[in-house]
Amino acid sequence: MAVSIILKGLGSHVPAKRLTNDDLTHLVATSDEWIRTRSGIRERRIAGPDENPSDLGAEAARKAIAQAGLKPEDIDLLIVGTMTPDLPFPSTACLLQAKLGLRQVPAFDVAAACSGFLYILEVGTAMVRCGPYRNALIVGTEKMSSMLDWQDRSTCVLFGDGAAAAVLTRSDEPNVGFLGSILHTDGSQVGLLLQPGGGSACPATHASIEERKHFLKMNGKEVFKIAVREMEQVIRDLLVQHNLTSSQIACVVPHQANIRILDALATRLEIPMDRIVVNIDRYGNTSAASIPLALEEAHAAGRIRPGDYIILVAFGAGLTWGATLIRWHSR
Ligand code: ACO
Repeated sequence: MAVSIILKGLGSHVPAKRLTNDDLTHLVATSDEWIRTRSGIRERRIAGPDENPSDLGAEAARKAIAQAGLKPEDIDLLIVGTMTPDLPFPSTACLLQAKLGLRQVPAFDVAAACSGFLYILEVGTAMVRCGPYRNALIVGTEKMSSMLDWQDRSTCVLFGDGAAAAVLTRSDEPNVGFLGSILHTDGSQVGLLLQPGGGSACPATHASIEERKHFLKMNGKEVFKIAVREMEQVIRDLLVQHNLTSSQIACVVPHQANIRILDALATRLEIPMDRIVVNIDRYGNTSAASIPLALEEAHAAGRIRPGDYIILVAFGAGLTWGATLIRWHSR
């Protein structure tokens, strides 16, 4: 049997500044009622000019390291999931390594948009399980407000900023921690959700800025339909793979993109809503930070107990999606 890799410490951090739906009515033609009923969001946090993903991530990471009973010098691998890096290069992980005062350990970013946390969890687990690493720090951190078009009401109301982190470590307790995941990509659908400008295919020019190519673009209706279909299927596949039924799952921690996506998933999988962790009302869609932020909250609230089976499920740009099965550790 594979050695158990557990999420030993969790931590999260969000900027202090709240932006409510009513605040947004001063920026675009929208209403609290439209945003609440179409998405489930009431407010989101917005980072200040000096709060970058590496700063948000550092705050979250310090809490996760402390909760794991470790010190920064005990961390021997750092992986960051983000689609809003502080800089095009070097990676946000390099900036975070310095801010946390980690040893000169391997540090790198993974770009998988809203599925980022599931990807860094899979990579981190494999590296701790197979490699010379004992304690991996994985961090989902985003400043979505930096890439939103604040003139586009169909996207700017949906996202927020935040960070959350976990420490992955080996445990001698059998059959707990990360039990497996199924991850998918369909790059043929890239046009549904992307930032067209700012990369090497379309570097910044006066024209690209005027055409607003450096902002997030999304075909929300199409993404919604595919998200519901694929998240349901990947959870079903994960349950079959592990010989479980949905009634054995204590809680599902989904990517927080839209409450109607979560309602649809709950209905299709016959999982009561009180077993689905929801905090989209307070944070909106924080992309790679969204799942660990919800996981940390659920754990802190005592909703996750030793021995519980938990499913994390994500869907995002790429398109990327997947689901991960965890059985919570007891020591
Ligand atoms: N306020 C008021 N009206 C609005 C707003 C707004 N903020 N935004 C759009 N509208 C209007 C539209 O213009 C449209 O008007 P029209 O009928 O006159 O053209 C009407 O509301 C309906 O718009 P729809 O796009 O049909 O609204 P829908 O019910 O589909 O909800 C939403 C839109 C919330 C974006 C939904 O499609 C969604 O959540 N999609 C999924 C998003 C997602 O899952 N993203 C995945 C991950 S993100 C990542 O990876 C970074």
